[in-house]
Amino acid sequence: MDKFLVRGGRPLHGKIEISGAKNSALPCLAATLLSSETVTLHNVPYVKDLITFRRLLEDLGATALTPELRTVKVNASNVQIFEAPYELVKTMRASVLALGPLLARFGQAKVSLPGGCAIGTRPIDLHLKAFEQLGAVVSLESGDVVARAPKGRLVGNTIEFEKVTVTGTENVMMAASLAIGKTTIKNSAQEPEIDDLAELLNKMGARIKGAGTDTIEIEGVEALGSAEHTIIPDRIETGTFIVAAAITGGELEIKSCDPSHLTAVIEKLREAGVDIEELNQSTLRVKRSSGGLVARDVTTEPHPLFPTDMQAQYMALMTQAEGESKVVETIFENRFMHASELIRMGADIQIAGNTAVVRGKTQLMGAKIIASDLRASASLVLAALCAEGETRIDRVYHIDRGYETIVRKLRSLGADIERVQDASGSVHETVA
Ligand code: UD1
Repeated sequence: MDKFLVRGGRPLHGKIEISGAKNSALPCLAATLLSSETVTLHNVPYVKDLITFRRLLEDLGATALTPELRTVKVNASNVQIFEAPYELVKTMRASVLALGPLLARFGQAKVSLPGGCAIGTRPIDLHLKAFEQLGAVVSLESGDVVARAPKGRLVGNTIEFEKVTVTGTENVMMAASLAIGKTTIKNSAQEPEIDDLAELLNKMGARIKGAGTDTIEIEGVEALGSAEHTIIPDRIETGTFIVAAAITGGELEIKSCDPSHLTAVIEKLREAGVDIEELNQSTLRVKRSSGGLVARDVTTEPHPLFPTDMQAQYMALMTQAEGESKVVETIFENRFMHASELIRMGADIQIAGNTAVVRGKTQLMGAKIIASDLRASASLVLAALCAEGETRIDRVYHIDRGYETIVRKLRSLGADIERVQDASGSVHETVA
């Protein structure tokens, strides 16, 4: 199992290019199942979750080609299998995104239930209830969700989510695109990835209005066609590199990003003493302010407020800020697994329910630590970059799910980080 070895204390300097958004590329790949014509996606990041999703498409019978780096061309005209098996779903919960498109186009789908994961139970009940409201018959058979549209096609309806759900909104938006009549999604998620997916679907011929707001209206159409689309930049990778500049006391120029997608993050980090200058619409210059980092409370909320996917990285930063900050997690239960590892490195963090109280500034010390989920691993890398001495981070396969060539990117900025296989030989990242 791969590990990272990080020798901390080096300020990061230089320019870094942000990759395409994993959380946008996943639903966009799923959307290719809605059409029998070829859909071309550009700026698809080379990360594990997308390789897995692509494998899922191929297992279903689609062809997926890579004519050039980060471009994926999918043709789903020959899909004959309508099932996402447990082996795939257990490694990537986003496999549930296949459910909506399969059900809408073929009138049937079977997807293994994701089950528990490191950051809580993460049910998909809201997806399933919404499919039922669109006329599907949904049953649970030996751990699989089996859904059918009795008349072959779904039927539009008004769906009001009782809780904001990102992939739930995406699944319904895709399913409703091929339903008979109109669907209105109320209390929909407003993340930029929803907007990106809607843009792709509309290019394919869907009729979607209101994506990016809390009410989305979809006029179902009979079939969707081909399209070409470029995935938006990854806002969480952008936020992670902003924190990397601030936590190491360096200065970074972050390119190919979209600052308008992370307004709440930028605002909070500025309050906490990070200088963030927008050089243009896609470039940020970031450094720690001369006054140093100061503790500021944060609460995670659905977009456009502070994202849960930046909570762990923010907590790492707060260990280096003067004063006491409260980090409140409202989206997921059990999403503080990184805290115990940060404490092992010397952080002063107390957890009570969904609130972590961080007291800073503490000198972090290198240690042997374990990554527990994708964003937690990013937080541990950030902590290690500013710690004294060597940190060994185990189970870094989590970070490979969502951060493109993270070791290479950090090394290009002057970080002393390497990927090693077990205790023996060291293997540097070679994937593009
Ligand atoms: C997506 C993102 C993930 C991010 C999360 C919240 C992708 C691939 N993943 O995950 O990175 O952390 O949004 O911004 O885009 N819930 C239910 N029932 C459901 C669905 C959700 O109770 O059927 C609950 C969840 O347990 C959670 C909350 O709703 O407490 C939000 O989850 P959701 O927005 O659905 O997260 P994901 O779409 O899985």
